[in-house]
Amino acid sequence: MTTKTIAFHSSRGGTGKTVIASNLATIWANKGFKVALLDLDFRAPSLAGIFLKALKKQYNFWLNDFISGRCKIEQALIDVANEYELKGKLFLGLANPSIEAIRGTMDKSQAWEVSAVKRLFSMRNTLSKKMGVDYIILDTSPGLQYSSINAVVSSDIAIIVTTNDEIDLGGAKSLIKDLYVELDKKPVVLINKIFPETNSSIEAEEKKIINKIEKQLKSPVLATILCYCEVLKAKRTTLLALENPDHPFVKKLETIAKTLFLTNKLNFEA
Ligand SMILES: Nc1ncnc2c1ncn2[C@@H]1O[C@H](COP(=O)(O)OP(=O)(O)OP(=O)(O)O)[C@@H](O)[C@H]1O
Ligand SMILES: [Mg+2]
Repeated sequence: MTTKTIAFHSSRGGTGKTVIASNLATIWANKGFKVALLDLDFRAPSLAGIFLKALKKQYNFWLNDFISGRCKIEQALIDVANEYELKGKLFLGLANPSIEAIRGTMDKSQAWEVSAVKRLFSMRNTLSKKMGVDYIILDTSPGLQYSSINAVVSSDIAIIVTTNDEIDLGGAKSLIKDLYVELDKKPVVLINKIFPETNSSIEAEEKKIINKIEKQLKSPVLATILCYCEVLKAKRTTLLALENPDHPFVKKLETIAKTLFLTNKLNFEA
């Protein structure tokens, strides 16, 4: 299949980008696809804290090293398919969580940022053409960080994850106006952590929320995901897709995986 690059973005922190990106990557990898999951949140890296089994493997380079031109993308990837007993491939590109590395990302020049976006495009090419990766999933920082903008620019499908909270929605609206409209890029919205409040059925309530948000953000909604205590309470290292595959959160992500499989950016731009 043609490689799909999917970026998870948000206006505010904590909307669920990382949990959704990691479980979706695991679901696809377990179905036999070749998946690359990359942590572009250099200011608050999180994948290294989730995929602990990856850190037990021998590797010398972080994704930071690739973006800065210190290694090839192949050297910054760790395949954890065996460690997590996945049918396909799951290549992780981890952001360096050390304080020095995080500090080092704070004061980059504009020239560095331009070169970083070029590196991301060349990475996409290598993963697609040389390594035959089916899905490249980019987990980003919230807002207008350079690495998130780069991720959005280099993606086929940019997903804004928001809650139904008015402050999050206001932030998403500004993000769309300030970034996506400027880039002439159409995002798709994923509404996470909803909890139906009325006595009507969940389906009816979800439809109402989708209609409201599609009008408010003038963007298509990909899906809604309910707020689940089990997701909230799970340890950072828990991949629900593997540990509890029948959980409705995982089932919903499987439906989303199918929709994304059938979608290219043109469908969302129609
Ligand atoms: N559907 C859900 N139901 C309940 N809890 C959820 C759900 N989705 C995410 N969470 C929880 O919300 C918290 C934030 O999730 P996560 O770290 O994925 O957000 P994020 O958008 O990546 O945050 P950041 O912007 O800080 O990187 C986590 O505790 C996660 O378990
Ligand atoms: Mg995150």
